[in-house]
Amino acid sequence: MIFKNNFFIFFIFLIFFNERVFSHCIDYFDAIDPEAKRIVTCPLVTEDSSKYLRRSSSSSSDEDESKIQLVEFKCNNATEETCNKVKDTFFLAGKIISKTFILKTPILLSVDYTNLCIVKPELCDLQEGKVVVIGSAQSAREMLFLDDDGLTRYYPQSLVKQYQLKKHPEFATYDIIATFNSIVNWRFPSDYNVPIQPKQFDMLYIVLHELMHGLGFGSNWKNWFLTGNKTPPLITTKPDIVVTSDKQIIFNEFKESAFDRHLIFNSNYNNLTSITVKLNDFAKPGTKFNNVTDLIQSFINSRQSLIAENMNNIFTTFNSLSSYPKSCHSERAILETSIVPFQNGESISHFDQSYINTPDFLMTTIQVPGKTLSDLVRQSGGTSPIGPRLQAIMECLGYETKRNLTPYRPKLVSSL
Ligand SMILES: *[C@@H]1O[C@H](CO)[C@@H](O)[C@H](O)[C@H]1NC(C)=O
Ligand SMILES: *[C@@H]1O[C@H](CO)[C@@H](O)[C@H](O)[C@H]1NC(C)=O
Ligand SMILES: *[C@@H]1O[C@H](CO)[C@@H](O)[C@H](O)[C@H]1NC(C)=O
Ligand SMILES: [Zn+2]
Repeated sequence: MIFKNNFFIFFIFLIFFNERVFSHCIDYFDAIDPEAKRIVTCPLVTEDSSKYLRRSSSSSSDEDESKIQLVEFKCNNATEETCNKVKDTFFLAGKIISKTFILKTPILLSVDYTNLCIVKPELCDLQEGKVVVIGSAQSAREMLFLDDDGLTRYYPQSLVKQYQLKKHPEFATYDIIATFNSIVNWRFPSDYNVPIQPKQFDMLYIVLHELMHGLGFGSNWKNWFLTGNKTPPLITTKPDIVVTSDKQIIFNEFKESAFDRHLIFNSNYNNLTSITVKLNDFAKPGTKFNNVTDLIQSFINSRQSLIAENMNNIFTTFNSLSSYPKSCHSERAILETSIVPFQNGESISHFDQSYINTPDFLMTTIQVPGKTLSDLVRQSGGTSPIGPRLQAIMECLGYETKRNLTPYRPKLVSSL
């Protein structure tokens, strides 16, 4: 009887314990709209390790395969032939990525190929002959991990999967979500025997660029406090907030992305992380605000808003910062700070446009039409569409390559 009782209590404790260990995650639902997101407390789950064994043994033989799998594919408003060409393009992009990066766990994609000018007319200005968004990809879930400098940063699920942790924050169904606009005059890889037209975009080039964003190439330095022009833009790393059931806001510090760990000012080579640390003097983690307006107003009134204002000046001045992954054998890469006004998702999260004529052309903000991916590799004298600076940044983020066999890995954080 006593034994039974003890067992019962132990059992309850186990369930209770398992249910109460969470990680901090953010889910994204729309590749075109980074504001379509939700903070989720994802439980720590235990992985069935035989799954990994099975995968790695079945895949080691084939050099020429893609570790990036198109798991969900919606193809509206296009012929079956075109849909197949789109699928094919993602497969080829996946092969290029799998050739450079050693992906131990497959990366799962959800792709929507659709006429964005019908779905979101505000993104198109067809009279001007302008299509604003040709395609976009984004990590479906980001997870908070602890870095070796004591700061927590958001890591993309694609990368966390590669750690093959026995216990990990629960994964979302897909690693990367992507939307591509079917109204664009695409040139598909299978059209290789027809020359590309001056206004055509090479889909392989754009897909590869977007997938790099989905794998974690992107900054959390953005204009988060949307105030309606009354003040100059305030650029900070991501304010981590939780909305309580009674609509209060709990502020949990400004958080960088994994990519932001390597940012430096070109003027003095100091890192930008020290600015995030200063911004966090604004409020202690767990500080409550009555509502979003209250949070924004408090920030505008704080001394830290001057720092954020100054960051806006720096981020709209050419040649002001770089990604410098120095532990991953690389030169620094100057980042995009020429766009005025500052543009979320474009500023900082790209290479400076001058790289367009170099082997590191892939991650510039403006992608050129009338050139195929292989044209660009050839004319820049590169050997792979993934240039040396881009490769080093991804290696320092934590992706494994032949020359980076034991990549950096942050620590799991969880809370009860
Ligand atoms: C795509 O949608 C447009 C507008 O609704 C229509 O005219 C066109 O026929 C559609 N094309 C295909 C291939 O479904
Ligand atoms: C940033 O610089 C500070 C001060 O020099 C240093 O203590 C910190 O470790 C650096 N952080 C990173 C992520 O390099
Ligand atoms: C938000 O909080 C502020 C400050 O406490 C308060 O004055 C204001 O009425 C609140 N606004 C809304 C929409 O609840
Ligand atoms: Zn981009």
